[in-house]
Amino acid sequence: MTDVTLRLEQPADDPAVERLLDLGFGANRRQRGVYSLRTPGGQAFAVCQVAIHAGAIVATLRFWPVALAGFASVYLLGPLSVAAAWRHRGLGATMVDAGLALVDRAGIEAVVVSGEPDFYWRFGFIAGAPHGLVLPPPIEPERIMIRSRVALPPPPLGRVSRAAAAVRPPAELGAG
Ligand SMILES: CC(C)(COP(=O)(O)OP(=O)(O)OC[C@H]1O[C@@H](n2cnc3c(N)ncnc32)[C@H](O)[C@@H]1OP(=O)(O)O)[C@@H](O)C(=O)NCCC(=O)NCCS
Repeated sequence: MTDVTLRLEQPADDPAVERLLDLGFGANRRQRGVYSLRTPGGQAFAVCQVAIHAGAIVATLRFWPVALAGFASVYLLGPLSVAAAWRHRGLGATMVDAGLALVDRAGIEAVVVSGEPDFYWRFGFIAGAPHGLVLPPPIEPERIMIRSRVALPPPPLGRVSRAAAAVRPPAELGAG
């Protein structure tokens, strides 16, 4: 896809990203349980990306710092939304691959997601519910997934909660 470029999300992108999310998930998307884990404006900007075509944002992927006992650093992946005209061309997978590469480079230990297993297994996510991983309801247990770079603690992993304060990726620490 040579006519689409990825770049980090900037705060000024917010209105266009929010419009794309409304189109992808519907205007009542904030009623989903995972939204209780997201502080508006608190996304991990160092790893959130947008895809640009002809100056317009055509896809967005955000990550949010969250807390899970037994892990030093965990991000919640999502939302991911690709504009309807750009779907089924691999852009969604490209966004997730690129986002996870940044997350890994930042040294984040684990990523959790509420998503379609058929889409997310290819990135190394596994079912979280059998390990006792809990995301805020309402959520179908089969949508709870985790991708960890460290050995999983014994079950139950427990409940993911909102991060007390923004977790800065280790790569940013010491940058002043
Ligand atoms: C889900 C979404 C991000 C996929 O974006 P995309 O650019 O079309 O994804 P890709 O082209 O990289 O991959 C598409 C493949 O992923 C899988 N896939 C996509 N959406 C899926 C879903 N809802 N359930 C299961 N598998 C899905 C399919 O295998 C699909 O293959 P196909 O194109 O042959 O049908 C896009 O459809 C979207 O923005 N939907 C609305 C928002 C949304 O539901 N996001 C939630 C993601 S869990």
